[in-house]
Amino acid sequence: MDLEYQAKSSDIAKQRTDCAVVAIFENGNISASAQILNNNCDNIVRDLIKQEELSGKPGQALWLYHLSGCPALRVLLLGCGAENGCTENDFRTALQKAASEIKGSSAKDATLYLHEVKLRRQLQKGLDTGRGIAAGVALARDLGNQPGNVCTPTFLGKEAKKLARNQSNFTTKVLSEKQLKELGMNALLSVSAGSDEPAQLIIMEYKGGRKTQAPHVLVGKGITFDSGGISLKPGLGMDEMKFDMCGAASVLGTMQALLQLKAAVNVVGIVVACENMPSGGATKPGDIIKSMSGQTIEVLNTDAEGRLVLCDTLTYAERFKPKTVIDVATLTGACVVALGKHASGLYSNREELAQQLLESGRQASDRAWHMPLWDEYHKQLDSNFADMANIGGRDAGSVTAACFLSRFAKNYPWAHLDIAGTAWLSGPQKGATGRPVPLLVQYLINQSGK
Ligand code: BES
Ligand code: MN
Ligand code: ZN
Repeated sequence: MDLEYQAKSSDIAKQRTDCAVVAIFENGNISASAQILNNNCDNIVRDLIKQEELSGKPGQALWLYHLSGCPALRVLLLGCGAENGCTENDFRTALQKAASEIKGSSAKDATLYLHEVKLRRQLQKGLDTGRGIAAGVALARDLGNQPGNVCTPTFLGKEAKKLARNQSNFTTKVLSEKQLKELGMNALLSVSAGSDEPAQLIIMEYKGGRKTQAPHVLVGKGITFDSGGISLKPGLGMDEMKFDMCGAASVLGTMQALLQLKAAVNVVGIVVACENMPSGGATKPGDIIKSMSGQTIEVLNTDAEGRLVLCDTLTYAERFKPKTVIDVATLTGACVVALGKHASGLYSNREELAQQLLESGRQASDRAWHMPLWDEYHKQLDSNFADMANIGGRDAGSVTAACFLSRFAKNYPWAHLDIAGTAWLSGPQKGATGRPVPLLVQYLINQSGK
């Protein structure tokens, strides 16, 4: 006989079924459904416990028939062990007993109210994961909230070095502007050209998985203050551009969580940190730069700086022969217009990776929404003077920014999270949220199972 399974929310007080299976625990503890049954049926469950007919021992089973206060034809009271942590073994014992009892009855269907059983392992694991994520979120928020005169690119480098202290499987390396120049990271340097603070490329390596396993690379936008550069932003609310390093903060927070959780994955966290400021040395609209990839870029707006620092970093990421690369950036105001502060914008050149990230966001209550990277949008980046312009006009600003990045991420599975709306709150609740640390940690934990 074929069995059909369905998961739905139903209430034992209302659900018609041939057979309701309800959990009883040891020491007189009972599940929520058993309590409802008890209340509606003349205290029957409590009485049976008192009469020592029910102990809650794993696998103990007792049938009740034709209860006047319950629409189920039969009820199977099932012992599931300790209330605050049924072991996997106990749960298996209980389930096997329930299956054989139901099979031996004439019931044609059964409704199991066993989601109410808390599993000890899972429970502990869930708690630990939650604590690790919380620590990562706290670090990301603290860094995000620091003012721009404290949280400089150099400061972020020091914070990354702190994470590596007393750790055997975590290293931090910081590249100077001189080294960036030698690497040909001119798009990145074109952004920091107007600033007195030197740019920093911060590379953290966490080795929690097998030596041979390809790493997941996270790339965080770390503009410690975004004035817009020569394409200066309007004054109102400009203070909030200290939050333009929240992508970087989320990468640091995620690395911290992985350390605390001893996650079994290899992860490289790269923070690309610099300021975007106007000065006599700053990049000007119309300037053309040659990126590390060799592709040339006409800078039509110096305020579209995030994609310039990220594109060279995406090229740099190739050297890790990554399994996946995920960049995280407060990239566009247009993303805030599209999705508000509830969802991060998700772009990817691989459908499977996109789905895994969306699912991780749902699991961790830190959701993202899938956005397109269609060819049609790429036309908006055409330039008469270079391989591409750094802006794509008014329409679909978050999409064209992602399209720009995708041109530097062709050689590996890549995803981009535009967190401009989700990384911080404005108004009376002004402050960094720590997002998307929960999504990222969840994704990496899910990957460690594979
Ligand atoms: N950091 C900003 C994006 C941003 C703006 C995030 C407002 C959150 C709130 C980014 O560097 C930027 O300035 N983007 C420009 C791009 C435009 C010039 C194409 C924008 O969104 O206006
Ligand atoms: Mn900008
Ligand atoms: Zn920016």
